[in-house]
This record gives sequence, C-alpha cells and structure tokens, in this order.
Amino acid sequence: MAAAATVVSRSFAATTSVVGGRVMPLNVTPQKVKKLQSDFHVRADDVFVVSYPKSGTTWVQQIVRLVQCGGTLPDSDTKISDAIPWIEGAEMPAFGCNMSLREIDEMPSPRTFKSHLPYDIAPGGAPHTSPARYIYVARNPKDTVVSFYAFVDRMSKSAIGFDPFSWDFFLKSFTRGKLWFGDWYDHVLRWWSWRNEPNVLFLKYEDIKKDLPGTVRKVADFLGQELEPEVVMNITRQCSFQGMKSNPTTNYGWAVQNLAGEMEARYPLLRVRQLCRSHHRDSSAASKDQIMMRKGVVGDWKNYFTAKQSTEFDKVYRVRMEGSGLDFEFEPLSEPRTLLSV
Ligand code: PPS
Repeated sequence: MAAAATVVSRSFAATTSVVGGRVMPLNVTPQKVKKLQSDFHVRADDVFVVSYPKSGTTWVQQIVRLVQCGGTLPDSDTKISDAIPWIEGAEMPAFGCNMSLREIDEMPSPRTFKSHLPYDIAPGGAPHTSPARYIYVARNPKDTVVSFYAFVDRMSKSAIGFDPFSWDFFLKSFTRGKLWFGDWYDHVLRWWSWRNEPNVLFLKYEDIKKDLPGTVRKVADFLGQELEPEVVMNITRQCSFQGMKSNPTTNYGWAVQNLAGEMEARYPLLRVRQLCRSHHRDSSAASKDQIMMRKGVVGDWKNYFTAKQSTEFDKVYRVRMEGSGLDFEFEPLSEPRTLLSV
C-alpha cells in the first residue's frame, strides 16, 4: 500500500511544476508564465480559446478556425495544434507545440491561441484590459474530471505502459484543486465573473452539444464574421464528434508517439519498463483516434462516480458555486439539434 502511494506521488511530482501555488504541467514553469505575462505582446486581432483542461477546447478551436476562414481551411493538412498553438505549451513538442515563445510572439496576424491558464495569469496580462478577444469554454465538472482522468489513463498506458493514478486519487486531487492548472472552481468562476466584458465570450460544452449550429453563429458574431446558412451547415458538419474524430488534424493521434518519445528521453528507465510491458501496453492502449476524441457526450460521469463519490462531490459543488449564477447540465442530453435545423 505504502509502496503504491509512493509510486503515485512520485509519478505525479514527475509531471508537475508549481506556479503561484498552483500545480501545472512540468513545462509550464514559473519562468515561462512570467515571460508570457511580461514579454508577450497581445495584439488587437488576437483570439484566445481558453479553458480548464478537457472542457471542449479542441472543439471550440476547430469552430473558431473554420469560422475564421469561412468554412474552407486553406491549410487543411495542418494539425490544429500548429494552426492554433497552445501558448503556455510552447517548447513542449509532445502535446503542446514545437514553437518557442519568441516564434509565437512573432507569428503573423491574425493569431489564434489555445490556453488553459487561469484568468489572473492569462498571457499578456489581464484580459479585461487587453485589446484581444477571449472565448472561454467550461464543462460540468463531473464530466470534466472523468474526461481528464480517462485522458491521463489512456496517455499513460499508451505512452509508458501503465497508469500510476487510480480514479479515486484523481477525483480527490481534482476536488482539492491539486491537478494541473489548479482549482476548477477558481478557474471557471474567475472567467465567469468577466463574462460580460465585450471581448469575452463564455460558452458551455453542454450548450454547444445541444445546439452546434447556434454556437457556430454565436462565435461568428463574436468574431465579426458573417456566415451564410450553408457555411454554418458546412462548419457544423466538420465539427461533429465523428467529423473531428476521423480527422487526423484534430484527433491528436500523433500525440501518443510524441509523448512516449519525450518521456523516454527524460526517463530512460521507462524504455526498459516499456519493453517488459509491451504486451500490456498493446492490449490496454487506446486507439489513436480515441486519445482526445473519446466519447464526446454529457453524463459519462455516471459510469465512473460511485454513489458516495457523487454525493460528496455534489456537496462541495453546491458550496463552491453558491451565488455565482453559473449552473451546468449533468444529465445525458436528448438528441441535439441536427443539421436539418440549421
Ligand atoms: S484539452 O486536452 O484540454 O485541450 O482537451 P479538450 O479539447 O478541452 O477536451 C476533450 C474533450 O472534448 C471532447 N470533444 C468533443 N465532444 C463533442 N463533440 C466534438 N466535436 C468534440 N471534440 C472534442 C472530447 O471527446 C473530450 O471529451 P471526452 O468526454 O473525454 O470524450
């Protein structure tokens, strides 16, 4: 038992850095965040897609990307992570992006970025004083933590052959605000409190799921783009779950291979462990297109939470969300609006 706990805490520590008391991924260092605050120059035509991880970021990125080009990508072979770099993921080739901070700063306009950074350490300084536009997407926290856990589990098994974290450990860490990018409640509520700023659009995953064409139009309005109904329909089709899962530029199939290489370079012992466990790795690894595009539904938390975990979670949720005016849907949705209703 004690040995297992040591493995878990060492594994977790090996993936983290700490910025202002918040747990961050290893390469999101205090130095990098400081540089993003002071040296990165925000431009008026920049767009940021921001979220707590696993809230539908990639989905909104793809909507934004397609809206910006009127539904037909000029660079249809470009991976979404290259077209819309994850800004604090700079110099983090496995899952972030290959670019340096300087290359990111020098990208030609108009630039669009992904970020998971909390409001108070947003790149380039406080968004309400910034000339850029910010689209924040939030998702009910039960599905968020399930998606996060499932992702870490699949990535670990695929890249290093085993998953050191149990679901219970992961859920407790989430509830205590001890996972990467800090406390979910702080993250979401801080952005929510700025939702009425003209340069902030606050979206919810469940609403996008219910009305994808309506979301495409909302994003287009926010970005000042006029779209014909057939363009909205075309974008909706490309942003469906199946559309993005079967698209090699959006399904992150490339990430496992990259992460495995990066982990082996950092921790050479893993190579030996992987060889020993190759059978296990093969049998438990998710297929590549499931790494990011797993289920894409509302309510999958019911397959993970025990009744006790759910009750305890709900108690904390009620206290932390009280008075915020923000609520989420947790129940599986009936049929979303179809293309016919565009
Ligand atoms: S990340 O790594 O933080 O950027 O991940 P993120 O993109 O925020 O979240 C991944 C989850 O979003 C789901 N997703 C979608 N759902 C419905 N429709 C579409 N088109 C779509 N694209 C991404 C993805 O499946 C992950 O959720 P889960 O619940 O794990 O399936």
